[in-house]
Amino acid sequence: MNIVLLPGDGVGPEVVAAGVEVLTAVGKRFGRTFSTTTHPIGASALRAGKKALPPETLAACQKAEAVLLGAVGDPAFDHLPRAEKIETGLLALRKGLGVYANLRPAKVFPALHAVVPFKPERVAGADLLIVRELLGGLYFGEPRELASDGSYGMNTMAYTPAEVERVGKYAFDIARARKRKVLSVDKANVLETSQLWRATMTKLGQQYPDVALEHQYVDAFAMNLAIDPRRYDVVVTENLFGDILSDEAGAIAGSLGMLPSASLGDGPGLYEPIHGSAPTLAGKNVANPIGTIGSVALMLRHAFKAETEAKAVEAAIESALDAGLRTADIALPGEASISCSAMGQAVAERVQRA
Ligand code: IPM
Ligand code: MN
Repeated sequence: MNIVLLPGDGVGPEVVAAGVEVLTAVGKRFGRTFSTTTHPIGASALRAGKKALPPETLAACQKAEAVLLGAVGDPAFDHLPRAEKIETGLLALRKGLGVYANLRPAKVFPALHAVVPFKPERVAGADLLIVRELLGGLYFGEPRELASDGSYGMNTMAYTPAEVERVGKYAFDIARARKRKVLSVDKANVLETSQLWRATMTKLGQQYPDVALEHQYVDAFAMNLAIDPRRYDVVVTENLFGDILSDEAGAIAGSLGMLPSASLGDGPGLYEPIHGSAPTLAGKNVANPIGTIGSVALMLRHAFKAETEAKAVEAAIESALDAGLRTADIALPGEASISCSAMGQAVAERVQRA
């Protein structure tokens, strides 16, 4: 099983190391071998005189069975023109892998009720899956421009029915294995792309009579998600709305550091925590690796169809949290916290012991 590791920038290498430790524990416990190769991306690639997404890195990812990414981003390179930017490299990786469906599960762990910024009695048991369209919308729409004299900027939001349908199918199919509920989020009262989105989802829904389809405007859903997250199960939405709403879901779960993701298409999937490179935490061994370890679980599930192994990793995360282990982002004020690597070890040990 050939996995490409892209540790990237900031806390990326630290959280990926913890993820690999857990993967190694899975290998020992279940008698599997995972072979990994590591490639540069982001600021670390730029500093080595390469492009933010070196062509060799993309080629290796395209040939892999799965890709585990830490994080990319570094304020030192924010000034670069768009074509050379680190974020552009990440978008090119998504495009190059054809990963159009970005799954972002968010759940509230019982052990973290005291930590979540929302009243536990309102969010306890929340368990949702945001399915974010990842290859369209404002992120990729043309034309786009920033006038060289700074006098205007322009982006384009565009979708075709085929683009909506393929991610919509993903949402409906996965809803069948969950609570058979899909919420489609748009802004159809204002945006033509959203009218197309809603019409396409409605039509697609007719093929899934066993799944309840609901629609909400993105502003209303942003509020409803905070008020009553337990009402929702699978939530499907376009690229930018999904980016924003998944950070909100991260807050509900107690920390952005908790959330994993899987970006899936027709080729190898890209697995990464939803948090960024957190430059101020880099090199301090304090980041929360649970989002990355959860992404390893998603990799086992989706890339290797290893459901037992995926569940073992998820149970080990829960057990570490139940034992009171906390990285700084999920510790209460004054409460002791452990390092990123210690959390990785704690989860890995639990995988092997189980
Ligand atoms: C994410 C990130 C990226 C995005 C950035 C780094 C380009 O915020 O994965 O959510 O906007 O998609
Ligand atoms: Mn984001």
